Amino acid sequence: METIRRTKVVDLLKRQDFGTLVNVKGWVRTRRGSKQVSFIALNDGSTINNVQIVVDLANFDEELLKQITTGACLSVNGELVASVGSGQACEIQAREIDVLGTCDNTYPLQKKGHSMEFLREIAHLRPRTNTFGAVFRIRHNMAIAIHRFFHEHGFFYFHTPLITASDCEGAGQMFQVTTLNLYDLKKDENGSIIYDDDFFGKQASLTVSGQLEGELAATALGAIYTFGPTFRAENSNTPRHLAEFWMVEPEVAFADLNDLMDLEEEFIKYCVQWALDNCMDDLLFLNKMVDKGLIERLQKVVETEFVRLPYTEGIKILEEAIAGGHKFEFPVYWGCDLASEHERYLVEQHFQKPVIMTDYPKEIKAFYMKQNADGKTVQGTDVLFPQIGEIIGGSVREESYDKLMARITELNIPMKDMWWYLDTRKYGTCPHAGFGLGFERLLLFVTGMANIRDVIPFPRTPRNAEF
Ligand code: 4AD
Ligand code: MG
Repeated sequence: METIRRTKVVDLLKRQDFGTLVNVKGWVRTRRGSKQVSFIALNDGSTINNVQIVVDLANFDEELLKQITTGACLSVNGELVASVGSGQACEIQAREIDVLGTCDNTYPLQKKGHSMEFLREIAHLRPRTNTFGAVFRIRHNMAIAIHRFFHEHGFFYFHTPLITASDCEGAGQMFQVTTLNLYDLKKDENGSIIYDDDFFGKQASLTVSGQLEGELAATALGAIYTFGPTFRAENSNTPRHLAEFWMVEPEVAFADLNDLMDLEEEFIKYCVQWALDNCMDDLLFLNKMVDKGLIERLQKVVETEFVRLPYTEGIKILEEAIAGGHKFEFPVYWGCDLASEHERYLVEQHFQKPVIMTDYPKEIKAFYMKQNADGKTVQGTDVLFPQIGEIIGGSVREESYDKLMARITELNIPMKDMWWYLDTRKYGTCPHAGFGLGFERLLLFVTGMANIRDVIPFPRTPRNAEF
């Protein structure tokens, strides 16, 4: 076969130099036609769109033609021609075909319209479907948007450790990391495991958040962000929770509550606008096949001013809703941790806009949040989104050594894990704030997918670590 430099389908479909000999490589999505001619839809992953290969059967060997089945991998040389029927501006009139990889009839993606549940069972192959191709191209684009946003705003990308000895969120839902022999654990007289011989000489875990180290960086470099995997061993089997998910955590020195909320809002809008500007082919597909309201919802979020709502007012609105006859499964009272039904009522029914809720009771938030003068609330923010619920959790940080220390003591957080964090409050402490955005929650919103397992290539959830 003649050597011609490969063109990606995404580039090929923009070309108009008809008559040129081109090469494309990709996988057969469909093959149809008659006794004389076959039409092959070839996809190489560079775009949701396929290129149509027109094959004059008389010009090709019968054995070769038999190998051109759904899923087979081809290299095709041919002439770029204007297209009438393929839905694209151009197609390829095949001259030479090389079957790089055959695909037998056990290939599970023969037909269209598989359920999401079934596709999760073949997560090693699902990126080859239109839907998952679109989702993962958008996932890449959102990662780029995040880096660009922060880079353009003078934030430094700071890498925080994945293995840690401190529990940032204080919820204790951590995966332990150990090289100890689990069949022969040494224990002290109280029955507690002795970690002296463990790899790190103490108990270690996978991080639930890079925030604490992020604060160390922000109080040195001014504005930083982390973007990496985080791990939570919570036994939550919901469409919004993963045991391994990616989190984006900016941290900014000298920022107050308003600065924090401005940053949260500007950041999300930038990412959504990026998707609208750079992923329209994939969004159009998802809008057609997955969620008819998707593009309109994305456009609306970019244009809408988010509601900023203190927790106490939010509770009043929910109590009024109950008084007006609205039924919630979980009770509403000042001090309660809002359930997703409460958050969604505020966002989807009451305001019909994203809501940044602030000033939560300190009992339901982490130890590091800045305490308000009322002695009851802290300057935490949750950004609540339609369909998703909480997409961001953040706060102004308590910068006073004494107040922070008092809270750490009150909550019995072991000091031996925290001395280095407290040093930021001892040595030139400063007001600062930051947040964490669940990357997959953002992707749920931007793709319209219903389950968080379907926006990460290989989901980790309770009882599931296949692939
Ligand atoms: O609200 P969270 O727990 O906040 C923190 O971890 C802070 N340390 C962040 C910070 O201030 N730097 O988590 C932040 C976000 C949530 O709003 C949610 O979007 C996402 O992370 N998240 C999860 N996403 C998927 N699966 C899970 N199990 C998640 N838990 C939290
Ligand atoms: Mg949270």
